[in-house]
Amino acid sequence: MLTCTFTSKNLPFLFNKTKVTPCEPFNLPSRFLFSAHIVGDKPILVRDFIHKALYDPNHGYFSQRSGSVGVLQRSIKFNQLEGRKAYLNYLDKIYKQSDIAWFTPVELFKPWYAHGIAEAIMRTANLSVPLKIYEIGGGSGTCAKGILDYMKLNAPERVYNSMTYTSVEISPSLAELQKETVGEVHSHLTKFRVEHRDAADRSGWGYVQQQPCWVIMLEVFDNLPHDLIYSKNQASPWMEVWVEKQHDSEILSELCKPLHDPLITRCIEIMEMDKNNTSRSSITKRIWSKIFPRPQRCWLPTGCLRLLEVLHEVLPKMSLIASDFSYLPDVTIPGERAPLVSTKKDGCSSDYSTYLDAKGDADIFFPTDFWFLERIDHYCSGWLKQDKEKTSKQGKKRRTITLDTSSFMEEFGLPSKTRTKDGYNPLLDDFKNTKFYISVPTHNVK
Ligand SMILES: C[S@@+](CC[C@H](N)C(=O)[O-])C[C@H]1O[C@@H](n2cnc3c(N)ncnc32)[C@H](O)[C@@H]1O
Repeated sequence: MLTCTFTSKNLPFLFNKTKVTPCEPFNLPSRFLFSAHIVGDKPILVRDFIHKALYDPNHGYFSQRSGSVGVLQRSIKFNQLEGRKAYLNYLDKIYKQSDIAWFTPVELFKPWYAHGIAEAIMRTANLSVPLKIYEIGGGSGTCAKGILDYMKLNAPERVYNSMTYTSVEISPSLAELQKETVGEVHSHLTKFRVEHRDAADRSGWGYVQQQPCWVIMLEVFDNLPHDLIYSKNQASPWMEVWVEKQHDSEILSELCKPLHDPLITRCIEIMEMDKNNTSRSSITKRIWSKIFPRPQRCWLPTGCLRLLEVLHEVLPKMSLIASDFSYLPDVTIPGERAPLVSTKKDGCSSDYSTYLDAKGDADIFFPTDFWFLERIDHYCSGWLKQDKEKTSKQGKKRRTITLDTSSFMEEFGLPSKTRTKDGYNPLLDDFKNTKFYISVPTHNVK
């Protein structure tokens, strides 16, 4: 798909060669260069391929200072625009002027989007103890600055004075940019710190922190590595997909191995927990697979699972606010929860038809399945595991809610600030495919 300006986003017996099955239908040749260097002599899991394509310190998409996360020079004055047409013309102009594939909501609606999140925290947090906020994947720092600005202006002075805001950012260039953005207000700098590291790496967190804290993640789940599983038909077992270089060439292809990876196995376990695994349903599956045999591809949010496992371990009393895309239009890559792989050249955006083509020049982003996210969150909190084992009658360890962006902003934001003269409100009216997820601890700790 080629579009100028707007992208879709903005609107196994391991190593036993004989048992390795190429995933025939999608053995697509890929572009070479960096993507071929991603894969060495040995095959790698799809999530490792995606991780390198996005976050390789030298060539990864998010390691480049320009292009990955857009920064608007100035906030959009929605109240001065006539209506939808004027807004779209304005967006068209700024997308053409920049090498940015897309602007995130926190950027397009700055400072109001971040202010809505700050208000949600202020209304819910126990402000008698110092406020501790972590942001993971803060991009350009716009959310951090907006929240700190809001606290400075609206929270009791002691709350602003005693608060800490720690950003954990995998991209070195974005970590630098965050310091610059937040540093525009000098007093924020004593509260703000950027840690340049992978938030999903347990070793970077140090000791378990028992204090209550907030974790913010905006448009981060969509860019976390995913795995791919494949089955020949509805009744065949899932297999894990690996990426390998074809013999003596730079062409990449997929191969399938029986399930072996523990993270993939756990993710499938969570996905299938609720399914009715009665013998009747497996008989139906077998019959369907004989009449209409259909190969299946399913993308698994294993990066999200790993990150939430780490966060629940190190920050057991965290409250989480995340926003992301619940649906992506025009996805041509096959499979359930498949990603868009989007690049931009000369002002025009285009989508690759295979993730194997991503070579540091393309964003790979997935829709977030909020039902699955909630299950993963409960699983990582320890509750779903108990539930499954039926050893405990204790209640859920988290209270969770998924809200449409419009509901969240109507509750906590200032919707009048993003309204055009004729009443059209892009934040409430257009961002129908984005949602907020809020998860707070309950008292059912043990
Ligand atoms: C799509 S951008 C969103 C940026 C910002 N939150 C926003 O909404 O504008 C995704 C961000 O997450 C960061 N990121 C992705 N994986 C990460 C990880 N494992 N640890 C820390 N940061 C990560 C990326 O470098 C980038 O800053």
